Amino acid sequence: KIIVLDYGSQYNQLITRRIREFGIYSELKPHTITADEVRKIAPKGIIFSGGPNSVYDKGALGVDDELFELGIPILGVCYGMQLMAQRLGGDVEPASNREYGKTEITVTDPTAAVFKDLPATQTVWMSHGDLVQKAPAGFRVTATSKNCPISAMDDDERKFYGIQFHAEVQNTQYGHEILHHFAFDVCGATANWNMGDFIDDQIDSIREEVGDKQVLLGLSGGVDSSVVAALLNKAIGDQLTCIFVDHGLLRKNEADQVMESLNGRLGVKIIKVDAADRFLGDLAGVTDPEQKRKIIGRDFIEVFNDEARKLHGIEYLAQGTLYTDVVESGTDTAQTIKSHHNVGGLPKDLQFKLIEPLNKLFKDEARELGERLGLPHDLVWRQPFPGPGLGIRVLGEVTREKLEIVRDSDWVLRDEIAKAGLQEEIWQYFTVLPGFRSVGVMGDGRTYDYTIAVRAITSIDGMTADFARIDWNVLQKISARIVNEVAHVNRVVYDITSKPPATVEWE
Ligand code: XMP
Repeated sequence: KIIVLDYGSQYNQLITRRIREFGIYSELKPHTITADEVRKIAPKGIIFSGGPNSVYDKGALGVDDELFELGIPILGVCYGMQLMAQRLGGDVEPASNREYGKTEITVTDPTAAVFKDLPATQTVWMSHGDLVQKAPAGFRVTATSKNCPISAMDDDERKFYGIQFHAEVQNTQYGHEILHHFAFDVCGATANWNMGDFIDDQIDSIREEVGDKQVLLGLSGGVDSSVVAALLNKAIGDQLTCIFVDHGLLRKNEADQVMESLNGRLGVKIIKVDAADRFLGDLAGVTDPEQKRKIIGRDFIEVFNDEARKLHGIEYLAQGTLYTDVVESGTDTAQTIKSHHNVGGLPKDLQFKLIEPLNKLFKDEARELGERLGLPHDLVWRQPFPGPGLGIRVLGEVTREKLEIVRDSDWVLRDEIAKAGLQEEIWQYFTVLPGFRSVGVMGDGRTYDYTIAVRAITSIDGMTADFARIDWNVLQKISARIVNEVAHVNRVVYDITSKPPATVEWE
């Protein structure tokens, strides 16, 4: 086991994740952890993460100095290296030239353990305002860059290592190797951990926490809540009740797929609420996109609350919150980027204790967990689907007829994308009904029908996106099938805008 102390960098959980990828268990711990607590955990190594502050700030996050006496190897990353330098008698100062982004460093001592067998010149990701001006006694400088004379340092004797750059991000060319050297060569850790162990650990701790109490889970049909349902089902079985609100804005077969894989296959107890009439009733006559979103969000909470109130003895609410949701919403040490609805937006009148077993994981780790728990591949790898569902893909007023057109065309699109083998290459793809009609000719007759827009994007995280360069022949098949198979459609267009300036969804 290798522990990572949290100094608030947006990347800190990424370090634990890289170490877990090596098959070594790793977890984030508060920087206030004491030497005694560390002794009990008995890690093979400790990593001090980066952080947004300066070691000289008032209230700068510190460390129990006794950690340096434990004989456990320590790697300081960015702020972590500066903290180590400051505490061990070196000098940290504001940099005259801030470094941010890709930077070239030169390894000045090829015998340095973390740079073993790596080229002398390499690209790293820097992001710092301060730098170590003087290494503490006993340390040597092992790498430099133009603006940062001490880009890496070490004291092999005591096994203390510092790197000013972020080895955990992809932009650091040999970041993987550097962390690998630290974990295996320096710490002597063994690769003996996998996602199966995570499941066992989680099951134990969930059972311990919950005891014989009842747990409620809101099932959206998305990946994260489905994975939590499968995990809790394995841990506490009958004590779990899921509420699945079908708002009538789901994709074709979606409700059935969720019921079949979770209830049918895994035996999860699910209360399915058919609330389509309520949602569609409240949406009738509403055309403003923001108002539509608000109505859908409000109805969702109300239906969920109504059902929750009917149940008795529920003490816990489980959620599929991922680490990224947590860190972007701000933690004790990390700054707020944006508030995610499942972290900041919990209904105030729900008096439950929270269980969030995925809050240390990233999306792809949650997916791996889901597959190990027996969820079908399709469900686990499904593309993002917005909470308001097809309600924001029928532009303007939502009617049952229009929903049917979007649902049927979306079905054809998904089928053709799957046939072309593009489903994991294209990040998200769907159809939109703009709602205007145009003239066409079918057979010998004139038609006056709807247009369907196809939207398909590539993206990393949905924040920015580019339209997918789908082969013309695939687009041709999609177009022909939609017009032939979906009633009231006589024209198909392809959206070739990126985000920004457009957004992914049309509303
Ligand atoms: P936009 O349209 O903002 O979409 O460029 C970016 C990503 O977010 C999804 N999206 C939502 N997801 N609730 C969600 O859970 C929402 O209200 C919502 N609106 C958009 C969208 O599908 C895309 O993946």
